[in-house]
Amino acid sequence: MTSITMSGAPTAAVTARSLVNRPLVHAHLLAGIGWFLVAILAGLLFSTQFVRHYLFPDQELLSPGRVRMVHTHLVAFGFIFNCLLGGMIWAVPRLCGQRILSDKLGWLIFGVWQAIMLSAMAGILAGHGQGVEWGENPTWIDPFVVVGWVLVVTNLIVPILRSREKNLYVSIWYFLAAFIWTALTYVMGNFFVQYWVPGVSGAAVTGLYIHDLVGLFVTPIGWGLMYYFVPVILKRPVWSHAMSLIGFWGLAFFYPLNGVHHYLYSPIPMYVQYGAVVSTIAVELVVTTVVINFFMTIRFDFDTLRTSLPMRWFYTGMVLYFITCLQCAFQTTLTFQKIIHFTDWVVAHAHLVMFGVFSFWIFGIIVHLWPKLTGRQWASRRLNEWHYWLSMIGLVIMFFDLTIAGLVQGFSWKALSPWEESIVASIPFWWVRAFSGVMISAGALCLVSNIALTARRPVTEMAPELQPATT
Ligand code: HEM
Repeated sequence: MTSITMSGAPTAAVTARSLVNRPLVHAHLLAGIGWFLVAILAGLLFSTQFVRHYLFPDQELLSPGRVRMVHTHLVAFGFIFNCLLGGMIWAVPRLCGQRILSDKLGWLIFGVWQAIMLSAMAGILAGHGQGVEWGENPTWIDPFVVVGWVLVVTNLIVPILRSREKNLYVSIWYFLAAFIWTALTYVMGNFFVQYWVPGVSGAAVTGLYIHDLVGLFVTPIGWGLMYYFVPVILKRPVWSHAMSLIGFWGLAFFYPLNGVHHYLYSPIPMYVQYGAVVSTIAVELVVTTVVINFFMTIRFDFDTLRTSLPMRWFYTGMVLYFITCLQCAFQTTLTFQKIIHFTDWVVAHAHLVMFGVFSFWIFGIIVHLWPKLTGRQWASRRLNEWHYWLSMIGLVIMFFDLTIAGLVQGFSWKALSPWEESIVASIPFWWVRAFSGVMISAGALCLVSNIALTARRPVTEMAPELQPATT
């Protein structure tokens, strides 16, 4: 039995089973799905506040502002972090032909991370949240997160260092960069602003933080996993290795400069704001090369988008990524900002990227890996299809709804109409947002019930030990 290597060539006779700690990957994905449910429940709950039907108006613990923090915090750190980590624990040993440093350490990280999520949620609901977007968890949790990340990196970097491959496959480049960037980004957002850089400078740093958390933590790991899973499923290498490196270095160079585009028209020096605008537009060019590379890779196999659900999730996410970045290149201009700043346009954009791109990639990974992790084939293809279509249509409705709401709000403010007018005009849009949230939640329930039904199926003999390591 062979394993995939960084050059894409099969090497020594190492069984896939001996390389990957499958229960650990399974646990991370399962925990991620659990946090996803809590996060969208919080999103749904908060959306009822906008239509004046908040379900718990007199409960301080569930006051809307806190529930919003739970929503954003758990999608990023509970759902996305757990699932991306699960994906790396699967991919890194296979790319390097080496196991992670320690299974025990892996389980310790798993347990501690879930405890951190629980404490963060409890702390936020109890009113100890910090006023830093995506850095909301109470201050006393931050050191644990930093230590946790150091342990994650230690566990995953050892197989990379031990690898006998001469050339690092592009996924590993992305993972290595994410290891460093995530640490720097987290410390910057959660310690600098609080202790050393108050005021306007702190606002600039916070802008860098939220943007870099998407661009330098979620994005590199997400793309790294796409560079792994897409060729594995298609059974052909990526179209151009050189282009994948252009994408990597382009991201590395331009992305960190983007964050201040969250603070256009603010007291932050104009040259910094212009720099952020130019580098944001540059990122779109970089992204184009990456997307072209993936579409050239699939050019002879477009039918897989119909037959393979994981591939459909992956490529839908890529198209939405391209659209998000294209949107970014326009909305970062000062002309657009005059209208859309502080409006629901931004919320639409945030859902497009966090749900439509990274969550979709994660769902593709879950659909692909689940039979390999559990040894059971999916109980129902139809439920998985429903999950895809409900999520997709729910997202499209939410996106267009909030984008139009943003324009209505922006033009109303620009016309200096009374503030209340924009609120009244927005309420129908907020109803539609709540409705689209119900669709997305129904999709998630299809996934969860399919997981439960699958768990009742007999373990098939072929999986997981007997599966070829390249699949
Ligand atoms: C049931 C589905 C969902 C509903 C009803 C929902 C609802 C909401 C609401 C009401 C807000 C606050 C908007 C505001 O303060 O004006 C929000 C913010 C946000 N949500 Fe969701 N959401 C859902 C799913 C998701 C998912 C799946 C993700 C990501 C995986 C996500 C990521 C975010 C982010 C990043 C923000 C912050 C947006 C910003 O500050 O601009 N949401 N969501």
